[in-house]
Amino acid sequence: MNINISSYLPDYELIDCGNHKKLERFGDIIAIRPEISANTSPKLKFTEWENVADISFDAEKNVWIKHKDKSLVEWGMTYRELNFKLRLTNFKHIGIFPEQAINWDYISKIKACFNNVPSFLNLFGYTGISSIVAASNNYKVTHIEALKQIINWGKQQAQDNNITCIRWIADDVFKFVERENRRKNKYNFIIIDPPAIGYGKGGKRWIFEKDIMPLLDMLSQILDNQAVVVLNLYSHSMNEKFSHKLILEYFKDFNIETNGIVLGKSSYGDTINHGQLIRLERNIEIVE
Ligand SMILES: C[S@@+](CC[C@H](N)C(=O)[O-])C[C@H]1O[C@@H](n2cnc3c(N)ncnc32)[C@H](O)[C@@H]1O
Repeated sequence: MNINISSYLPDYELIDCGNHKKLERFGDIIAIRPEISANTSPKLKFTEWENVADISFDAEKNVWIKHKDKSLVEWGMTYRELNFKLRLTNFKHIGIFPEQAINWDYISKIKACFNNVPSFLNLFGYTGISSIVAASNNYKVTHIEALKQIINWGKQQAQDNNITCIRWIADDVFKFVERENRRKNKYNFIIIDPPAIGYGKGGKRWIFEKDIMPLLDMLSQILDNQAVVVLNLYSHSMNEKFSHKLILEYFKDFNIETNGIVLGKSSYGDTINHGQLIRLERNIEIVE
């Protein structure tokens, strides 16, 4: 599915992309970042990108270059009534995955379909924007992220938005889900956004190809009868056939709300690949 992220998140714009790079606007700040899936030619000249960019990430040296304000460290961005702080990190990420905005709208929309206050589990939760959106829609939220400093960033964002009810847990996703399974705890909404390769708490390695199936197996056991699952899956091994296999294997009694590759469209019409999005619903009646 081709999406224009700006229509969900007006504070973001994919201005141009190509030559394995992208030119994006986050609030008032324009950034140049590497993008492996940007394999067309950019519509603007690179000198035009450099003229407008505030910052660019040098992937060879792993450093941010500040073109305008040399003191820039942190700045703000909004989604609906929520405000978020973005930051330069020592990697190309800045605290937000803007393509997730399509899930934030869905989280808000589907809330009305649950019979009781739904419990929401965000795995690989990063800086917590999905968790904050869910909490602002009155879900009961648990957020799992391996890195303590990223959890602290999320907690600060929640506090800045007057949200105090999220359960923030710095843990390895596997360990947490195993524990919840043993305790027979159930969730109504689970969202996952795993990296291709990552590190859990204590340096435990996550490898998508090896770990995704055992994780989904465990997740299928901690879902309540009335349930929604959102899987954001980026990996070379992901394709329509594999996603159908995963659905049949672990979620065969769910309706498929979405199963497709998300392509983010630039203002000039080229696209970048945000991976496979699978949204599944069980015992959910859509309330219009
Ligand atoms: C792609 S980001 C998730 C983006 C997030 N869903 C969002 O929308 O902002 C992946 C996150 O998973 C975390 N992570 C990687 N392996 C993990 C593991 N085994 N357990 C817990 N967190 C992990 C990383 O630290 C990183 O913050």
